[in-house]
Amino acid sequence: MAGEDYRSASYQIWQAMAAGWDRERSWMWEASRAVSEKMLEALGPQPGQTILELAAGTGETGFAAAGVIGPDGRLISTDFAPEMVAAAQRESQRIGLANVEHREMDAERMDLEDDSIDGVLCRWGYMLMADPARALAETRRVLRGGGRLSLSVWGAAERNPWASVPATALMEHTGAAPANPQDPGIFAMADPDRVRSLVRDAGFGEPRLEEVEVHWRFDDFDSYWRFVTELAGGIAMVLQAMPETDREAVRTMVEQAAANFRTDGGLELPGVALNAAAG
Ligand SMILES: C[S@@+](CC[C@H](N)C(=O)[O-])C[C@H]1O[C@@H](n2cnc3c(N)ncnc32)[C@H](O)[C@@H]1O
Repeated sequence: MAGEDYRSASYQIWQAMAAGWDRERSWMWEASRAVSEKMLEALGPQPGQTILELAAGTGETGFAAAGVIGPDGRLISTDFAPEMVAAAQRESQRIGLANVEHREMDAERMDLEDDSIDGVLCRWGYMLMADPARALAETRRVLRGGGRLSLSVWGAAERNPWASVPATALMEHTGAAPANPQDPGIFAMADPDRVRSLVRDAGFGEPRLEEVEVHWRFDDFDSYWRFVTELAGGIAMVLQAMPETDREAVRTMVEQAAANFRTDGGLELPGVALNAAAG
């Protein structure tokens, strides 16, 4: 899909995903907070700084930084999907964060001054963008000298069965050809060498990479299937648009494959995030 068509499809997908992400925010945060905590360690925010979160979704990673930068600091929490921005804003009001500004913003075209930001966070965003090189160049442009970037993307498909199991079942059922590994999508930056070169080519120094394990735990297969059909971005949208009989066929395939991940308490599907930080 060409750049603008992809952007508008992706915008529609994330607008539609916002309600589910909002509803499941506590569960998502519990499962994934280790990724964000490592991102924050690598960013090292300081009191009084201005921190920008890109593709913030429901906002939790940035909110963790807001506590550190304190009342004299400022978090600019952004996402290109207005429904996500609204969900993040409701939560920052609910938890009483007074140092957060919420904005709709496309990370590929940032409406921000050059050299105006001390640190940038972006968890699970760049790999979904039509042109991650452009978004990273924008990131470098808005960062002050000495400013740092801390990002997370997903590692290889085979190490992330929580996403690759349904993606493979969908491909097998529809006969769709596998995506070009560099096309935007969940695994588009799974290759550490691609992450390194994208970050360096945007004008940053050599990034430090770190893998972080994630364990997605579900009470039963129905809960996992709800996650796949309501939260899982492009996969969810394709499944929602399918005729019921096709969706049921994919569900059966996913249920069979997910049986490998049964535990005493339900299901546990592992994943590996790839964090990268650079200045
Ligand atoms: C997988 S979610 C991650 C949300 C959040 N960062 C988290 O880790 O919980 C991806 C987010 O990226 C946003 N996004 C995708 N492309 C974007 C772009 N070009 N500019 C800004 N946000 C974008 C989506 O709206 C969505 O909220």
